[in-house]
Amino acid sequence: MVNATMDTIKKRRSITNFLSKQIDDKKLNSILEAGRWAPSWANKQPWKFIVVSDETIRSMVSRIVPSVFGYAIRTAPLFIAVCVNPDLDPYHYVEEGAAATQNMALAAHSLGLGTIWMGTFSLKDERDSNEKKIKGILKIPKKWRLISVLPVGYPKFQGHKTRKELEDIVNWNYFSERNDLKPRQEIEYKEPRKKSMTPSSSLPY
Ligand SMILES: Cc1cc2nc3c(=O)[nH]c(=O)nc-3n(C[C@H](O)[C@H](O)[C@H](O)COP(=O)(O)O)c2cc1C
Repeated sequence: MVNATMDTIKKRRSITNFLSKQIDDKKLNSILEAGRWAPSWANKQPWKFIVVSDETIRSMVSRIVPSVFGYAIRTAPLFIAVCVNPDLDPYHYVEEGAAATQNMALAAHSLGLGTIWMGTFSLKDERDSNEKKIKGILKIPKKWRLISVLPVGYPKFQGHKTRKELEDIVNWNYFSERNDLKPRQEIEYKEPRKKSMTPSSSLPY
């Protein structure tokens, strides 16, 4: 039996080109609901989701970002700007914005819509960053951070990106630089010894 959640996760791809068809309110509401139900530290829910359908604003934002992305913003009927308030959770606000973004991207895909995640968060909060420029256009207060911009629409084309194999990214019990650990091919755990007493060649990794 196909698991609908796994199917949605595995089939979602970034979409850069959209049909001009509008999104009905029920679908848009479901996408926003998916963002609302993302987890957050101590359930702080530090979000604000700005739905931008205004053509002039979309055009202004599209001119700021690189060409592929600008095209996605211009062709999608709307985008969602995912903002977070660090005052509500100074520790994990980036992850909380990311969790909400991914929830919304998956919900959109499950409804036959496409998205592309544009990372806008600027680590150093630079003055000429895309984040600052887009915050200015959307009138987002200084203390709020803009984690992502998510154009949403009906896909014109599908994406085809693949992924590394599980065995390339999974380790068991402890970290290893080696990529040859097959799932469940467990290695006996060895207590790390004090560095000064341990020749590097005998380390398990
Ligand atoms: C944090 C983050 C930031 C991203 N920023 C951009 C971006 O600025 N421009 C872009 O074209 N794609 C961006 N993407 C989309 C990735 O390129 C895309 O997810 C990745 O290539 C895998 O393709 P898929 O989403 O079709 O599976 C971003 C994705 C994430 C998660």
